[in-house]
Amino acid sequence: MLWGLIFASYAQFSSALGQTLLETTFHSSPIIVPPLTVLERSPLYDPENTNLFLICPSGSAVTRPGAAIYKSNGELVWADARFGECDDLNLQTYDGRQYLTMWINSEDGVVLMMNSSYEVVMNVSAVNQGGTDFHEFNVVKPENKTALITATNSIPMDLTSIGGPAQGWYIDCIVQEIDIATGDVLFNWTASDHISLLESYNNLTLSRQGSTQQSPFDAVHINSIDKDSAGNYLISGRLTQTIYKVAPDGTIIWRLGGKMSDFTAIVKDTEFHFQHHVRWRSNETELSVFDNGAALVTAAYHIVDESVASGRYLQVDQEQMTVTLSKRFFPSPNRNYTVAEGNIERYGDSVLMGYGLLPWIEAYSFETEELLYSALIGQNDPALWSGNRVSNYRVFQTSTLEFTGHPTQPPNVSVTDGDIYVSWNGATHVTEYVLFTGNSVDEVSQEVVRVRKSGFETMISGNGTEGFISVAALAANGTTLGRSAVYNVSDGSVLHT
Ligand SMILES: *[C@@H]1O[C@H](CO)[C@@H](O)[C@H](O)[C@H]1NC(C)=O
Ligand SMILES: *[C@@H]1O[C@H](CO)[C@@H](O)[C@H](O)[C@H]1NC(C)=O
Ligand SMILES: *[C@@H]1O[C@H](CO)[C@@H](O)[C@H](O)[C@H]1NC(C)=O
Ligand SMILES: *[C@@H]1O[C@H](CO)[C@@H](O)[C@H](O)[C@H]1NC(C)=O
Ligand SMILES: *[C@@H]1O[C@H](CO)[C@@H](O)[C@H](O)[C@H]1NC(C)=O
Ligand SMILES: *[C@@H]1O[C@H](CO)[C@@H](O)[C@H](O)[C@H]1NC(C)=O
Ligand SMILES: *[C@@H]1O[C@H](CO)[C@@H](O)[C@H](O)[C@H]1NC(C)=O
Ligand SMILES: *[C@@H]1O[C@H](CO)[C@@H](O)[C@H](O)[C@H]1NC(C)=O
Ligand SMILES: *[C@@H]1O[C@H](CO)[C@@H](O)[C@H](O)[C@H]1NC(C)=O
Ligand SMILES: *[C@@H]1O[C@H](CO)[C@@H](O)[C@H](O)[C@H]1NC(C)=O
Ligand SMILES: *[C@@H]1O[C@H](CO)[C@@H](O)[C@H](O)[C@H]1NC(C)=O
Repeated sequence: MLWGLIFASYAQFSSALGQTLLETTFHSSPIIVPPLTVLERSPLYDPENTNLFLICPSGSAVTRPGAAIYKSNGELVWADARFGECDDLNLQTYDGRQYLTMWINSEDGVVLMMNSSYEVVMNVSAVNQGGTDFHEFNVVKPENKTALITATNSIPMDLTSIGGPAQGWYIDCIVQEIDIATGDVLFNWTASDHISLLESYNNLTLSRQGSTQQSPFDAVHINSIDKDSAGNYLISGRLTQTIYKVAPDGTIIWRLGGKMSDFTAIVKDTEFHFQHHVRWRSNETELSVFDNGAALVTAAYHIVDESVASGRYLQVDQEQMTVTLSKRFFPSPNRNYTVAEGNIERYGDSVLMGYGLLPWIEAYSFETEELLYSALIGQNDPALWSGNRVSNYRVFQTSTLEFTGHPTQPPNVSVTDGDIYVSWNGATHVTEYVLFTGNSVDEVSQEVVRVRKSGFETMISGNGTEGFISVAALAANGTTLGRSAVYNVSDGSVLHT
């Protein structure tokens, strides 16, 4: 498992201030999550507050890394630390159904596919000795039956061409297309077979990699895979700063960026550095790229002139072999580079970007490139923005108009000093809670009060309750979506469901 190895190095940037992340806790649920702090929001952005952000908060300051869904107003909708650390939470369609997909940091890494009850119905892995890594799980559209997945292996390699040992070690990056139903490998491609060591910007001497199996040389670092309608693959190599178009037979058709670019006019406008999340857009005439603007800020990797992260849309003319900038989205209010991770995704008229190791989530108008929305995972404290204290690999979006979460567990209640706290982890469509009471455990049917849901957890006054209570959760149309167990008001204990 190379994951820890690749990321361990970020610890060296730990903030000297050691600022504490102020996490959110609740009475009615054991969840502990970072807050989502909204900094800027245009009135034009998500006016009905239907957007849902899919996030895996992690980093050294996060008490319980796991999956989380927040509304754009910062309200927590779902948090789940069942599987520990995760990455790349997304909503994807497989075989006509929606699944929440995410990579988890189990022994060899695995991608879980969960249904709208947040139950795991399928696990998908690469077929690879070194397991599955977190960088990509991209269900291939429009058929939605196969997935593109990344993996790594530490392999022996002669590194003398770059001044390393003959008996050296190398992190091989593996690209596979997997049949989701059967787990069969339909395409299997390795960086070691196709990409020269000389393409790498990683410096063997400064990174001190390459001499042991535990510290292999990271030459390419594949972090995204897409596929075009003709069946060719689009592979992003972060440490070669190159995007590769690869034919189904494995041959490289062209390289964009890096030391061996096949395109002319790679100038400042179209240059990208240590990029992530490369996707075909606009009917395969444009690429979107998350441009990190920098890699590790130690001298270990090449340092670039313009150290600022941005999202780029690049128009790619594959006949003239030219590339031109069509859109660029900058971080705001703070402009900076981000040393790793990040993504850019289009949703309707807006573009959503996650800044990876910088825990920023920003949305822009696609048309005007203006910032519409800016939020932070954690409180607004720059001391949390370095040293991988709070981070998120990629952010994706869905909405309550297209996704309905139906948790298998009922709403949870806590009775504290006569007040009643209710929450329902993962329920996306609750608008109101109804408090019922009764003086017998078996008859808790007298309505006390109706209150609007006021956040992940809603407080209801216990005034007017008798010995026992239960809380029902209602949708906007008045349908009862679920009902809690019966609780004893005197001591808060659960009696039965
Ligand atoms: C594949 O998934 C996309 C959404 O990701 C959806 O728009 C499309 O209809 C799906 N295709 C099929 C055949 O289910
Ligand atoms: C999700 O999967 C679980 C386990 O297979 C199943 O019990 C549940 O009904 C499913 N929920 C939905 C909404 O499909
Ligand atoms: C998938 O993996 C998780 C975590 O290792 C495990 O708990 C679960 O049982 C697996 N589910 C299936 C359907 O294989
Ligand atoms: C994928 O290719 C690599 C390198 O050629 C090979 O070692 C590995 O066995 C292949 N894996 C599969 C599942 O075919
Ligand atoms: C790696 O860095 C060292 C020390 O700065 C430098 O001497 C060497 O030329 C670099 N190697 C390459 C291949 O750039
Ligand atoms: C996309 O490109 C294909 C091939 O060039 C063309 O047939 C199709 O009409 C285009 N679709 C759109 C929506 O522009
Ligand atoms: C940019 O990020 C680096 C590394 O976290 C930090 O040292 C620097 O202060 C930041 N610059 C700005 C302008 O925020
Ligand atoms: C309800 O609370 C119990 C006890 O704290 C906890 O184990 C469970 O996960 C909670 N369920 C939900 C849906 O919040
Ligand atoms: C409790 O409810 C009663 C009747 O509705 C009301 O008169 C009383 O003021 C309430 N007490 C508190 C503490 O809110
Ligand atoms: C009421 O709203 C819920 C949640 O949005 C939905 O699942 C249900 O189908 C709706 N029922 C009716 C009768 O419209
Ligand atoms: C409710 O709690 C009170 C106080 O602890 C206790 O005396 C009573 O027996 C409980 N009732 C039930 C039905 O458990």
